[in-house]
Amino acid sequence: MKTNPDSLPALEFNADLQPLNTFGLPARAARLLTITAPDQIPRLLTGESGLAPDSPRLVLGGGSNIVFGGDFDGWVFRVAISGRRLVSCNDEAFIVEAGAGENWHDLVRWTIEQGWPGLENLSLIPGTVGAAPIQNIGAYGLEVMDRFDSLDAVSLENGRMRQFSRAECRFGYRDSVFKHEEAGRWLITRVRFRLPRHWQALTRYADVAAELAASGLDDPSPIQVSDAIIAIRRRKLPDPAIIGNAGSFFKNPVVDAIRLSALLAQHPELPHYPQASGAAKLAAGWLIDRCGWKGKRLGPVGCFERQALVLVNHGGATGQDVRAAAEAIQADVLTRFGVTLEPEPLFV
Ligand code: EPU
Repeated sequence: MKTNPDSLPALEFNADLQPLNTFGLPARAARLLTITAPDQIPRLLTGESGLAPDSPRLVLGGGSNIVFGGDFDGWVFRVAISGRRLVSCNDEAFIVEAGAGENWHDLVRWTIEQGWPGLENLSLIPGTVGAAPIQNIGAYGLEVMDRFDSLDAVSLENGRMRQFSRAECRFGYRDSVFKHEEAGRWLITRVRFRLPRHWQALTRYADVAAELAASGLDDPSPIQVSDAIIAIRRRKLPDPAIIGNAGSFFKNPVVDAIRLSALLAQHPELPHYPQASGAAKLAAGWLIDRCGWKGKRLGPVGCFERQALVLVNHGGATGQDVRAAAEAIQADVLTRFGVTLEPEPLFV
């Protein structure tokens, strides 16, 4: 790796991206920059680095929500901005800030250890702090938007720094403005969280309640909730360090009331979660499971044997193999249930 001492980030040519995506898919980047400070971006955009206005660019966090279809003939910005601190506190909340390159789970555990709980239901989610708001990560009855204060970002077009409020992020289910109008335009540098001073355990999710009850905990502490979530995730979800995957591969689909009642007439046991609008969210894992995909393989890509919503790399898979398996699953679910599944990871 070549490092420029004059505050420009480390730059590597023809860089291997396989260790940088949790699916373990083979890909190379023409250029890989490791960004350690926000002010490196404006300096890069001056042109002295060779970064042209029309050069393709991609921001990479923990690589846990990405499918590389092949080599990336452009500039990959790997975010490695570190730092964690308490910004302020009042009667209502602790405001905690973290660099976008910090590991998400480490931040969760650290905030609990400091006595600033609130993120524990999001324990063990792979990835970085900066990636968390982009897809509004969520699990066990909590989404990042519920604990979000604001974020700082730097424009990849002109190097301008900007703060985004919670409203400006326009969060939705696994969704934010950074997947729509602002997609590809910003590099998130720091995120601030609003952690409640008056903490209460969020245990309404059945799996969490059952896990805590099994351990005899009826008034769990934040670390006990975190440990329970870790235990559930370890049991249900594959560890990317052992078998390549990108977590849930499909979003849980939302169907309108008419389609829901038609589906329920045929499948009364269909798991569904009513939404305010009258629509309902369905469990994609259940739909895929019922199509017989759980534990099944198409080439080197399989449906995980304990959670059909997760695709895994049994070894040697390419992005094309992942796409082929995903399309076969989508086709079966569409034929059997008339429901279109939308992938969660970004295809590059
Ligand atoms: N189910 C099956 N077969 C399966 C998988 C699930 O029948 O193979 C059924 C379950 O029995 C349950 C329902 O489907 O009735 C829902 O399953 P589960 O509770 O495991 O959660 P999920 O909807 O599959 C979502 C998130 C996960 C998150 C969990 C827990 C999405 C796309 N996925 O999964 O998020 O951890 O809830 O809150 O919303 C991720 O995004 O990467 C992720 C892991």
